[in-house]
Amino acid sequence: MEQIVVETYLAEGIVGKSAAIKKVIDLAKKVAPTDSTILISGETGVGKELIARYIHHLSPRQDKSFVALNCGAIPETLLESELFGHKKGAFTDAVADKKGLFEEANDGTFFLDEVGELSSSTQVKLLRVIENHEIRPVGSTEIKKVNIRIIAATNKDLAEAVKNGRFREDLFFRINVIQIHIPPLRERKEDVPLLIAYFLRRYNQQFKKEVTDISDEAMTMLMNYDYPGNVRELENIVQHAIVVAEGSMISKNELPSFVPARQSLPEPVEPIFKTMEEMEKDIVRETLLKCHGNQSLSAKKLGIGRTTLIRKMKKYNIGVRS
Ligand SMILES: Nc1ncnc2c1ncn2[C@@H]1O[C@H](COP(=O)(O)OP(=O)(O)OP(=O)(O)O)[C@@H](O)[C@H]1O
Ligand SMILES: [Mg+2]
Repeated sequence: MEQIVVETYLAEGIVGKSAAIKKVIDLAKKVAPTDSTILISGETGVGKELIARYIHHLSPRQDKSFVALNCGAIPETLLESELFGHKKGAFTDAVADKKGLFEEANDGTFFLDEVGELSSSTQVKLLRVIENHEIRPVGSTEIKKVNIRIIAATNKDLAEAVKNGRFREDLFFRINVIQIHIPPLRERKEDVPLLIAYFLRRYNQQFKKEVTDISDEAMTMLMNYDYPGNVRELENIVQHAIVVAEGSMISKNELPSFVPARQSLPEPVEPIFKTMEEMEKDIVRETLLKCHGNQSLSAKKLGIGRTTLIRKMKKYNIGVRS
């Protein structure tokens, strides 16, 4: 039996047996005890937040807060006051002093999701948090010290964003101290059956159902699917199947219609036809090469006389290496 990596912490599990997911878990374990800033990269739904929470859970900060913020989800004008807090009167709606999320997360871990979405002015301020552990609330002159560990995540190529001038290079180097890349699910299909089993257990419990089997046909379809939405998409597919299943079996009918029934066949390879002459030419050339151009030996190997060989060489215009 192959070893199955099932890391469990709190109510969550990290399921998989692929070399890729093992590598991710190993690295997460190594970096967890440190305070090092981490960049987790990977497509949508691969498990970036899951790994970030896992790292927090294994770190000395585990009893402190884990604050997650999607940088792309909040309008720029609100984001700064959300992150750094504000002083009463800093802007029209600032009726009282407000603590920012960085302060709330003091001593804990801050998960900055979609960090590539930060505006350049917020990027500068984040850099100050990382370099000097300092924040300045909007409208305040007072600088506060904070002790937070930053885990950033991105589904974009941040290095590319740096090249295009959309992300500050200095901040990139500060964030990208340790990068954990989680490969897409289509590149680690061996994790699919384990994830299916895991989600079946989880959602049968939640929905109080007993859908425990899966037909060979449905399994083949799930193994062949590409999962543009990665693990989250597989999770949704299993939930869908459990909800619509009437018996204990998931068959093709319980899968959402976007999962294709049959993988398209590979493009047929054009058959190659050769004439007898072309084949003879190939064989003569090949034999001469193998015999390092030795004509007597080649003729012998071909079972013809040496003069016949020379005639054929002339006919096919085959030179001989000296
Ligand atoms: N290896 C895994 N084992 C079990 N569950 C997983 C695994 N990877 C991801 N999941 C589950 O898949 C869902 C998506 O994971 P998560 O939210 O961490 O992805 P993400 O990379 O942060 O996605 P996004 O880029 O959309 O924010 C979650 O419900 C998570 O628990
Ligand atoms: Mg996420």
